[in-house]
Amino acid sequence: MEKDIQEILLTEEQIKTRIAELGKELTADYARKDPIIVGVLKGVVVFYADMIREIKTHCEMDFMWISSYAGTNSTGKMEVKRDIASDIKGRHVLILEDIYDTGNSLDFTYRHLLAREPASLKICTLLDKPSRRIKPVELHYSGFTIPDYFVVGYGLDYAEKYRNLPYIGILKPCVYGGEE
Ligand code: IMP
Ligand code: MG
Repeated sequence: MEKDIQEILLTEEQIKTRIAELGKELTADYARKDPIIVGVLKGVVVFYADMIREIKTHCEMDFMWISSYAGTNSTGKMEVKRDIASDIKGRHVLILEDIYDTGNSLDFTYRHLLAREPASLKICTLLDKPSRRIKPVELHYSGFTIPDYFVVGYGLDYAEKYRNLPYIGILKPCVYGGEE
């Protein structure tokens, strides 16, 4: 698995430090608001588990699972595979996502949840890859801005693999048939 990684972009230590910083911000911003933290499956799982433990105020957990119709590529056409279970009307909701790339997923998730009339709706993403943006959304919290590399690990996958790497690494292009 590790042999497919060209370079480590973000180490476990860097991720941990940044999440602790974000945690301080989120703790201050959501104190006494009893937010519902909605994780977008599956890529967010590792980030979600680490992030909520740095939020030192009451919060509730929920998840939604979305995917694009065409499979791997961001086609812009999304479907809900599993919806949230909570009633979010009048509640403070924070969306947690692994990566903001074209924006199709976050745009869809944001609109989907906004329609249920939450008291507030904000977005926190671990990674922001601005170079391929199609649908811009307002990002309220972001861990790292990264260049246009295909990255894996810490929850992010290529063809469902590499999610269990503890760091974020650049995948060797030869693995997905790209140029070396
Ligand atoms: P979007 O293009 O902003 O809709 O990004 C949607 C999804 O594409 C993310 O939630 C990831 O699952 C996936 N994705 C985008 N860029 C990468 C990457 O560099 N590595 C792994 N998954 C990615
Ligand atoms: Mg994802």
